Amino acid sequence: MPRNELHEDNRIAWNAATKAHNSHKADQATFLREGGTTLFPEELELLGEIDGLSLVHLQCNAGQDSLCLARLGATVTGVDISDEAVAFARRLSQDSGIPAAFVRSDVYDWLAAAARQPTRYDIVFSSYGCLTWLSDLRAWAHGIAAILKPGGRFVLVEFHPFAHVFDWDWSHAFPYFTGGDPDTFEHGIGDYVALSDGALSPSGYLAGVRDFVNPHRGHEFRWGLGEVVSALLDAGLSITALREYPYANGAKLFERMRERPGKRMIPPEDVPSLPLMFGLTAARRPA
Ligand SMILES: C[S@@+](CC[C@H](N)C(=O)[O-])C[C@H]1O[C@@H](n2cnc3c(N)ncnc32)[C@H](O)[C@@H]1O
Repeated sequence: MPRNELHEDNRIAWNAATKAHNSHKADQATFLREGGTTLFPEELELLGEIDGLSLVHLQCNAGQDSLCLARLGATVTGVDISDEAVAFARRLSQDSGIPAAFVRSDVYDWLAAAARQPTRYDIVFSSYGCLTWLSDLRAWAHGIAAILKPGGRFVLVEFHPFAHVFDWDWSHAFPYFTGGDPDTFEHGIGDYVALSDGALSPSGYLAGVRDFVNPHRGHEFRWGLGEVVSALLDAGLSITALREYPYANGAKLFERMRERPGKRMIPPEDVPSLPLMFGLTAARRPA
């Protein structure tokens, strides 16, 4: 069962963090209006042509990627639990002139409600830092399968779960296998935008909120790659692509990461290569 009470704590922590994150991003509306994008080649490759398709962006945060997807021609609905993120996304949609719908909801509640409606979607998309907030992988996968059209696709680009065994200093500090038990952090999600030295602020980096420490606790979940793939298969989806990448887009997840062209962050020289992101597509079988 989804742990809604823990999600509520996360909502409050994400409200605080989203303010800090956006405080570092200069004039995002102008950036988007002038054709700037926050999307990376990996998700574009897996998504393929989306012009004219209906697309749900789960855990869309403040809507930057959602609006870039809308500008590629998709009819986009973004869903996120954070009040601050959704309010920001709606303002950014207005200010940039790129239409998209944004819904503030726990992803589990939204998926359950959407399954009861007749509308079905061509694409469900989720990316970069989403799985760690999911308390029930099975309910999530079944919810996605239920809202896809026959032949519709789920597209995921995510930090690799193996990378999450490391602490900031690259020490092996966390288990890979947890059985879905939550990890509670007194100071919930931090300011990874500030830690990434501008790579997550393509519109320009501002000093913004300094030394942000989240005053709210957060609960995270660790899911292995096999658990993610199995949940989607068990929900009746077919895995149509699975990729692993030796770099992380935009985010300096650990100390001393080196930036390569395209904002690809790789480990320091003394750390052998390891998977830092993965991507997959999963399709609902045609009727
Ligand atoms: C790292 S961000 C994802 C960023 C995203 N890739 C983007 O396009 O900007 C994770 C998001 O998950 C949201 N989230 C966490 N738990 C959630 C839940 N139970 N339901 C819906 N959204 C949730 C947070 O509010 C946050 O915006």
